[in-house]
Amino acid sequence: MARFTSSTLQIPEATRVPRHVAIIMDGNGRWAKKRFLPRVAGHRRGLEAVREAVKMSIQFGVSHLTLFAFSSENWRRPKDEVSFLMQLFVKALQQEVRQLNDNGIRLRVVGDLSPLDASLVKLIAESEALTADNTGLTLTICANYGGRWDIMQAVNRMCTAHPEKAGQYSERDLMPWLAMADTPEPDLFIRTGGEQRISNFLLWQLAYTELYFTDALWPDFDARTYLSAIHSYRKRERRFGRTSEQLTESGPDENPERVAAPVLRG
Ligand code: IPE
Ligand code: IPE
Ligand code: MG
Repeated sequence: MARFTSSTLQIPEATRVPRHVAIIMDGNGRWAKKRFLPRVAGHRRGLEAVREAVKMSIQFGVSHLTLFAFSSENWRRPKDEVSFLMQLFVKALQQEVRQLNDNGIRLRVVGDLSPLDASLVKLIAESEALTADNTGLTLTICANYGGRWDIMQAVNRMCTAHPEKAGQYSERDLMPWLAMADTPEPDLFIRTGGEQRISNFLLWQLAYTELYFTDALWPDFDARTYLSAIHSYRKRERRFGRTSEQLTESGPDENPERVAAPVLRG
């Protein structure tokens, strides 16, 4: 069974600091173009921004960080760019996993891994196994991920496992088969790069997520941008279908532990 419930079945606890932040890291190509550099230089700098985003998430008290690294539609890009991105992923795993592990980070990679190089798939499995028991930040990398792919693979696996329930499946039946079943739904979604779209990211899981769009290009993502997103999130009234009055009646619904996150106090 999935450990976390769905925002449409039960109202999730509201916390001052988002528990789960999901990011579409967009704008690498434009960052490079502005500097008359090849697009891949933007991806290289993007990896540095990933490192910073991980560090800041821990510092801010975020417990789950999910990053969209390669979409199921990104195969449509020039072959050279796709192969650069795959090589960068390999390099990043080789260079960073030990340090992620030392920092208590649990690494997960979700998406359709079947078209990836066998050596990359092996590296992913080893990295996940090494960090599986860590209890710090859960870092999920979405690679060859698509929201529609996720829903379809979950539906297919559920139907195969429980053919006897055909015609009577519920949300609760589907949840454990989704790629991120072991993660709460995102509280805050951030997209850098100025586009205001979901681009087939977490379609199911974003049902009640607060959305934040910034013009900052991903390689420029820094504490200021991240904190602006979190501050904006904190001003939102998360009603989950209820009225504003109902929220005031039930009083603040905060987890004191999270409110105490030092960087965001005041
Ligand atoms: C995001 O940056 C990285 C990936 C999609 C892998 P882009 O490469 O999409 O950068 P822009 O949108 O072209 O600037
Ligand atoms: C979304 O960015 C995918 C990733 C960041 C991995 P894209 O740059 O591919 O999105 P579109 O094509 O502008 O929608
Ligand atoms: Mg883009």
